[in-house]
Amino acid sequence: MKSRKPLVAGNWKMNGDIVSNEHLFTGLRAALERTAISQVDIAVCPPFPYIGQAAAWLGDTGIALGAQNVAAFPNGAYTGEVSASMLADLGCRWVIVGHSERRTLAGETDGIVASKLQMALAHEIGVIACVGESLEEREAGQAEAVIGRQIDALAPVMAPLGADRIVIAYEPVWAIGTGRTASPETAQEMHAFIRARLRERGVRAADAIRILYGGSVKASNAATLFAMPDIDGGLIGGASLVADDFMNICRCAAVV
Ligand code: 13P
Repeated sequence: MKSRKPLVAGNWKMNGDIVSNEHLFTGLRAALERTAISQVDIAVCPPFPYIGQAAAWLGDTGIALGAQNVAAFPNGAYTGEVSASMLADLGCRWVIVGHSERRTLAGETDGIVASKLQMALAHEIGVIACVGESLEEREAGQAEAVIGRQIDALAPVMAPLGADRIVIAYEPVWAIGTGRTASPETAQEMHAFIRARLRERGVRAADAIRILYGGSVKASNAATLFAMPDIDGGLIGGASLVADDFMNICRCAAVV
């Protein structure tokens, strides 16, 4: 058994509606009632409009609530943004920052991601900070340089903090939504690199911080990924939208 308690988080992305969410929540509750899952932290990150619905449904399940994004500013004239204090108000325990889809679609730079991290932490919300290289970068032998740069931008904020507040998700862009998962060995190599980099950059909790893998994780490949020494759970996209698939992935994390 690993010393770090695994975390499996579902990133619903821009999917769902009131009715389909209700179906999903009912399925999650039913799966947990059939067989409880111990020794794994579980979280779901629905789109902003459904966070209240999720908070009501998750109730006493032990599944934590998370959000997919947070503003880089405290409050004020930022039309369309959602602040960290609002997320805290709604009971969010986690927020995802720096997802590759936001880096690409919304032009989020390393600096913006670092500001978001700071905002969330100031409001006692734990952060799942995503890093990942594109296919072109990997093929050009740049994977470590890219991940190193992304980690370096966040390390000064993370340096003094405890591991309960910080999670890293390694999500190679070429594996997201493509069905092409990184091999457990490739993922492990990158996770070990990330941990070493955190240590080098003076992040106090480097050895205790959970590093999740994300990118086409399914129940059929989760166990071998989670068995690797530096893979401490997963950030799950598509498979988190199906209750039994998500719960089966969580169970894979429970047995490592
Ligand atoms: P998929 O699991 O759909 O590949 O998405 C991964 C992801 O981006 C989670 O944040």
